[in-house]
Formats: sequence, C-alpha cells, structure tokens
Amino acid sequence: MKQNKVVFDQVAGQPVYKLSLTNANQLTLSCLSYGAAWYELKIPTAHGAQNLLLNFGDIGAYQKTNPYLGMTIGRVAGRIGGGQFKIGANAYQVPTNEGDNTLHGGPHGFNTVNWESKISANQIIFSHRFRSQDDGFPGNLDVTVTYTLTDDNHVYIDYQALSDGLTVFNPTNHAYFNLNADDRDVRNHELYLNSPQHLALAADKIPTGKVIANAGTPYDFTKMTNLDQALAGLQDIPEKGLDDVFVLAPHQDNEPVAILRQPETQISVTMYAQRNGIVAFTANGFGPDQPYLDKTGCPYVGIALESQTVSNAIFDPDYGDLSMQAGETRHEQTHYQFDFPTPSK
Ligand code: GAL
Repeated sequence: MKQNKVVFDQVAGQPVYKLSLTNANQLTLSCLSYGAAWYELKIPTAHGAQNLLLNFGDIGAYQKTNPYLGMTIGRVAGRIGGGQFKIGANAYQVPTNEGDNTLHGGPHGFNTVNWESKISANQIIFSHRFRSQDDGFPGNLDVTVTYTLTDDNHVYIDYQALSDGLTVFNPTNHAYFNLNADDRDVRNHELYLNSPQHLALAADKIPTGKVIANAGTPYDFTKMTNLDQALAGLQDIPEKGLDDVFVLAPHQDNEPVAILRQPETQISVTMYAQRNGIVAFTANGFGPDQPYLDKTGCPYVGIALESQTVSNAIFDPDYGDLSMQAGETRHEQTHYQFDFPTPSK
C-alpha cells in the first residue's frame, strides 16, 4: 500500500500532519492528526479522482466554523444534558459547550487535540492521553484510533481506550459524505437505515427518554429512500432536516446499519457496526461562510452518519452501558465499504 505523511498546517506551533494510504484500486484514504480526523476518501472515476468527504483547506477553517468535519468525537458523542451523569452512585459534572449542555465531548473533546500519528502497513494510527484535568471527565483515558484501508475498498475505524479510573466512553466519527462529483447537495442521494425508531428530543436536542416509531413517517429509511422526499416531509419542523438519533434493529456484524447511494453514478457507502445507534445529520443550517474545498456551503451540503451507542444510554441503562472501570479496555469499530463503477481505461 502506498503511504504518505506530510505537514498540512500548524496548531500552537506544532505541525498538523496529513497521512494518506492508497490501495491497489487507486482509492486514497487521508487523515489529519488534528482531531484524528478523516480528511478524504478519494475514488478513481472516468473524470479523475473524486473526494467523497467534506473538508476544509486549513486548520483555521476547522477551528473557526466547527461542524466537526470528519473528526473523531469523544469521550461521549452527542449531548449530555446539563453536562451531568452518574456512574453507579457517583455523580459527575463535566464542562459544557452548548448552552448548559455538553456536546461531542465538551470544549476539550477529542476533536480539539493534535494527536500523535503514524502510518504502519495499511493503517493510520492516532494516539493521545486525555487527562481528566484537561477535559474535565473522570479518569485519565489513553485512546488509540486506527484507520485501516483494505485492497477491496473497505475502511475500518477502530477506537481503543484504556482508563485508569471510572469513566464513560462513546466515541464516533463525524465524517460528512457528499457522493456528487459536482456542486449539488445530497438531496439526490438515497439512504437506508436499519432502524425502526428514533429518539424524542427536547428543544435543546437532549433526549427526553421516549422513542418514536419511524414507520409511516419521514424517518422511515428501512427501504432505500430518496433524501429530497424525506427532507420535504421535515420542512415544518424548526430543524428542516435530519438531526436525529436512530435506534438500530438488532443486527449481525455482516448486516449493514446504513447505506448511502448516489443513484446516477452508483457510488455508495455501506456502514457496518455493532452499536445500537446512528445519528443522521443533514447539515441543515449550513451556509456559504463554510469554505469547503469542493462544495459550496449550503443546507444539505453533506450528511453525517455517526455510529454510536444511543445517546440516552448516559441516563438509561436499557440503551447500553457507557461506563468503564479502572484498568478496563474498551474497543469499538465502524466499518465502511465503498462501491463505485470501475473507471474504463
Ligand atoms: C451532530 C449534532 C448536530 C450538530 C452537529 C455538528 O452530531 O447532532 O446537532 O451539533 O453534530 O455540527
């Protein structure tokens, strides 16, 4: 596999690296050390290489407008109401960054750090020690995020964490896909989600604890559904799009949890994960102030599909256990399969 590591930018006087792998089919995976971010997924087409991920050209843009583009998210993806949770009898308050709530790991989350980085064979490996005194979560957490590219066009993201005290862990990746070669938004894409229900959310998007059946609503993606049609059904809600936590049906490792497809070009991404939830976010409020490299910022410019444990697990053990004991190691994985027509010579 072809490897490349170059300096992309600087943060606080330190180099931010861009690390790339190219497989036998000329598919290129690139990541940034800042935020352990997924930067590019380039496929070969008859018209040259096409990047399927939204990205910016410099770290300043990542810091200024912060849609968490491709970033590794943790310690806890999604929102923690009031920044408060319990592990057993112990109550914790963590730093808040969205009103009174904690979003995507708070103000010192995984996305705010320039990680140690290296390339080995077909893997890009990031590691960082999140000290409790720095991010405000209990326990010091040693985290490794490994991106693996295979020669059959699969990408695996593995999250490995070891804690020295009680803590919580629910990581994800915040890549936004746009499978169009031109400047169109994702409304011409089709989406499948293996999900019968989504979470009811309060006005500040904190889960209420209730779930809503998807059948017969614009949230039903159990058959491949055109996104324009689904989004048309959401124009009377304030969000005017998807920003929702979908509860997945019980599934095997080889059953997709999500499929996103561009029907004209037959480019698709299929996601597999063991976890019980996925957030689908259609970039509803995005605008032209966001300097994407290949796209004009606008509502629906991309769709983020964030595999995770359903976010109300932070207060409802029926939806999963996010807690880790001292000395415990936790491993989570998301697997993406890319399909596209072979470019004719
Ligand atoms: C999503 C979240 C959205 C928004 C987005 C980042 O995961 O659900 O509300 O915060 O991340 O722009």
